[in-house]
Amino acid sequence: MSVAATSPSVGSFYLRRRSPSAPMSMPRFRMAVRSAAVSVTPLLTKLHNDSATPLPLLRHVADAMAADMRAGLAVEGGSDLKMILSYVDSLPSGNEEGLFYALDLGGTNFRVLRVQLGGKQERVIATEFDQVSIPKELMFGTSEQLFDFIASGLAKFAQKEGNKFHLPTGTKREIGFTFSFPVKQTSIDSGILIKWTKGFSVSGTAGKDVVACLNEAMERQGLDMRVSALVNDAVGTLAGARYWDDDVMVAVILGTGTNACYVERADAIPKLQGQVSSSGRTIINTEWGAFSDGLPLTEFDRDMDAASINPGEQIFEKTISGMYLGEIVRRVLVKMAEADALFGESVPEKLSTPFALRTPDICAMQQDISDDLQDVGSILYNVAGVESNLSARKIVVDVCDTIVKRGGRLAGAGIVGILQKMEEDSKGLIFGKRTVVAMDGGLYANYPQYRRYLQEAVTELLGTEISKNVVIELTKDGSGIGAALLAAANSHFTLNFASTMIRFILLQNRQGKTRLAKYYVPLEDSEKHKVEYEVHRLVVNRDPKFTNFVEFRTHKVIYRRYAGLFFSLCVDITDNELAYLECIHLFVEILDHFFSNVCELDLVFNFHKVYLILDEFILAGELQETSKKAIIERMGELEKLE
Ligand code: BGC
Repeated sequence: MSVAATSPSVGSFYLRRRSPSAPMSMPRFRMAVRSAAVSVTPLLTKLHNDSATPLPLLRHVADAMAADMRAGLAVEGGSDLKMILSYVDSLPSGNEEGLFYALDLGGTNFRVLRVQLGGKQERVIATEFDQVSIPKELMFGTSEQLFDFIASGLAKFAQKEGNKFHLPTGTKREIGFTFSFPVKQTSIDSGILIKWTKGFSVSGTAGKDVVACLNEAMERQGLDMRVSALVNDAVGTLAGARYWDDDVMVAVILGTGTNACYVERADAIPKLQGQVSSSGRTIINTEWGAFSDGLPLTEFDRDMDAASINPGEQIFEKTISGMYLGEIVRRVLVKMAEADALFGESVPEKLSTPFALRTPDICAMQQDISDDLQDVGSILYNVAGVESNLSARKIVVDVCDTIVKRGGRLAGAGIVGILQKMEEDSKGLIFGKRTVVAMDGGLYANYPQYRRYLQEAVTELLGTEISKNVVIELTKDGSGIGAALLAAANSHFTLNFASTMIRFILLQNRQGKTRLAKYYVPLEDSEKHKVEYEVHRLVVNRDPKFTNFVEFRTHKVIYRRYAGLFFSLCVDITDNELAYLECIHLFVEILDHFFSNVCELDLVFNFHKVYLILDEFILAGELQETSKKAIIERMGELEKLE
């Protein structure tokens, strides 16, 4: 039994510290005389056995996690793990600039942030935030009520911005929306809620696009802002941590709920089915809370699950996350009170109330290092209405420790499962070098024993040598800044190069391979990849019945399809579409002339010639020559010179 606490330094969020001005409601020596020598040993022994996490069990959990990840990547619904595509293909580079908002909804509170980004030199210049707790009734209300509440919080916060920041004309304030529930992303800025978790049961949102819900609520508030990135909190954490440290590969949330995400190779995701990712990599949101294979569950877990609003779901989450640890302990204590009179003859009513004992309470009890466990006694008295003697308190602490140990160790095994899968796919990627797992969430941040058990499990599983390379680290800024960074990285208003006419021309095949790309505006490579990816998705998925002009960020793309090839030009929103359609056709006619019936392979093998032709009629984003005859003659002359 490990009763002693190791570190007294727990965040104030979790610890109820006794203040001299607020004496405890229970006198120091009024221990419950009735709760005599308790004979709970068989129950306690059974609890220890049922929730034990020896190394072979942890190994099984890690292996099963890796296997479930693969199955979930192979096909939609392939395993308990949804392995959701985040559409975050490029992580923040540090170049992000401007003022962005983040909205963070994921638990009992929601936060609004304003972040001023200053690019590589200045990084995060300033952040301001507001936190509002979500009234309980809204967690069970309608979608409209919840989103109206959020939008009005955002509106109040946005008002405080005053005239400090000038918004360029034609642009809007952009938001990174952290929405920490399972969402099937349909793009970087849209996604359908699969189901609520963490005790939320809001009607009318499941199956809907949550960004649309927010947009409608913002409209009702008269708020003209734009969601540029919809992200899960784990994804936001990864992005935020990666902004400071290139070695971050995985992010884990251990708070009210739990989740993990990681950087995956696009070619390791069979269910992508040829859809390309602009960088060849993407972040996968595992939704590991739904994992269930081989967990050491007790009767208390089963009962809690059966009584929950989502029975049979989120089993890993119910075993390891902050919303549930206190409740499991409470259920054990009720049984001990009933069967073994742990707290005297009757079972106190307060203790029988579901969720009366919260994880912060059990954390605070575990920090009590006094001889008589006085804090434990007062917490039991205040929270559960029980009077206890020292032996009962010791048993209570033992129960807390057993449940927290199981949670921490299983979380550690989950992390190893992810690292293992990544290493198996690319030898040396993880274990051969420093790899950072970014952690966030109140449970991890504030519960020292939980953190220690998690780390111990990782070290046991990986061995001391390898685990030296794996740095498990609390994140600096959390998911909020990550979401703001992703809004910046996916900003709709970044292609602002006012005087140029044609911004870029792209030639892409149906699978998204770019065969020719010419940019007439200075963009970074990562941004070019993103543009190519987005344009391909836009034009390939567009119904052929629609026009060949489509809005793209603040511009428009004029495109035309020839067999399997898409020719796309990006121009100003006010430019003449028909002129550019003609321009594309002219380009194709010239190519045809040169390669007599041009096909994709001609472009691949003669790309230098293709670029030469292009330069003959578009230069610096301006049309130079529109006469086919003149261009062909000029090309002929150039050929003679070769
Ligand atoms: C949700 C995840 C979320 C996690 C942590 C879980 O209940 O399903 O989407 O990331 O909680 O907030």
